[in-house]
Amino acid sequence: MNTIKWIVDKNNVKTDSYPHIQQAAALLQRDEVVAFPTETVYGLGANALEDSAVAKIFKAKGRPSDNPLIVHISNQQQLTNLVDNITPVAKKLTEVFWPGPLTIILKKKTGISELVTAGLDTVAIRMPDHEIALALIEESGLPLAAPSANLSGKPSPTLAKHVEEDLNGKIAGIVDGGATGVGLESTVVDCTGDIPVIFRPGGVTKEQLEKVVGRVDVDPALEKEEASLKPKSPGMKYTHYAPVAPLYIVEGGPQYLQHVVDKARADGKIVGVLSTDEQINRIKADVVLTVGTRKDMHTIAAHLYEVLRAFNETSVDIIFSESFPQVGVGAAIMNRLQKAAGHKIVKENE
Ligand code: TXA
Ligand code: MG
Repeated sequence: MNTIKWIVDKNNVKTDSYPHIQQAAALLQRDEVVAFPTETVYGLGANALEDSAVAKIFKAKGRPSDNPLIVHISNQQQLTNLVDNITPVAKKLTEVFWPGPLTIILKKKTGISELVTAGLDTVAIRMPDHEIALALIEESGLPLAAPSANLSGKPSPTLAKHVEEDLNGKIAGIVDGGATGVGLESTVVDCTGDIPVIFRPGGVTKEQLEKVVGRVDVDPALEKEEASLKPKSPGMKYTHYAPVAPLYIVEGGPQYLQHVVDKARADGKIVGVLSTDEQINRIKADVVLTVGTRKDMHTIAAHLYEVLRAFNETSVDIIFSESFPQVGVGAAIMNRLQKAAGHKIVKENE
């Protein structure tokens, strides 16, 4: 398949770039699959109301069919069409955080492709905060099912070139709108009950949610690595975001990190380090890449996936990563790092 690529300036979506949006929307209406930017990561969109369209997403990504998709909408009416009951917590949270990196889970109405919801009686919905995504949804007139636009298991794409690396020739089109903003996926929150439950940490933090609704719970499977606990968000059980070389998270100070690196190099390994602006000049290894500054954790979120992918362009045999405090967006950063590392952690004093 020939993948069409459109370059769209997100500040001129409604003017100069609109013909591109119309072409991409026309492909979506014909039940083809198109990748587009959102404020979190690039999504791989298809008509959420049509099985044959949604099936193409699973095929292109190599995604397991028991992992449901998020439906992307651009207005409130679409939410009403998709769910039976907008609970009070869903109402409060969407009023504050939509459009934005929040996905809510509610009981679904019939009509949504069973493939989208992987047979569950709930559906995940979000309104992205991105001019291109919103214009594409509006112009197509469709709710768009869209997972992250990467091959299953790879880091999510924060640039159109990441989408091309993974999916060129496998999808109908890519709308290139430049770098995404947040860099990590949306926060997935179950809003079916009275108390919201975080199924996946993401761009909206637990602290921000609590300010709006008071108590917020976290799916226990996210906090403990126990085989007996099954994550409520099916996607969380799969290995994700992994670079090719094995990744270890190092918990300890810079000297300990250097010690771990030196030991691996003494064993003949080519060693990569995922570092920060603060420590990059202090660490000696074969490849040292910074994800951003600890003074602004959002810079780290924005570059994490790009740096994980960048290690694949090097010849490192092993990667050690600094670890980060799990507050604010740090919770989502550590969740993704732990998954990318397959929970391999090296601790000082152990
Ligand atoms: O930021 C994002 O959310 C990006 C952009 C493209 O919008 N999308 C994204 O989609 O991350 P995906 O498919 O990579 O992740 C969707 C997550 C998975 O963990 C999936 O299991 C969960 O949402 N999910 C979807 N529907 C669900 C449901 N009904 N119940 C529980 N979890 C659900
Ligand atoms: Mg994903």
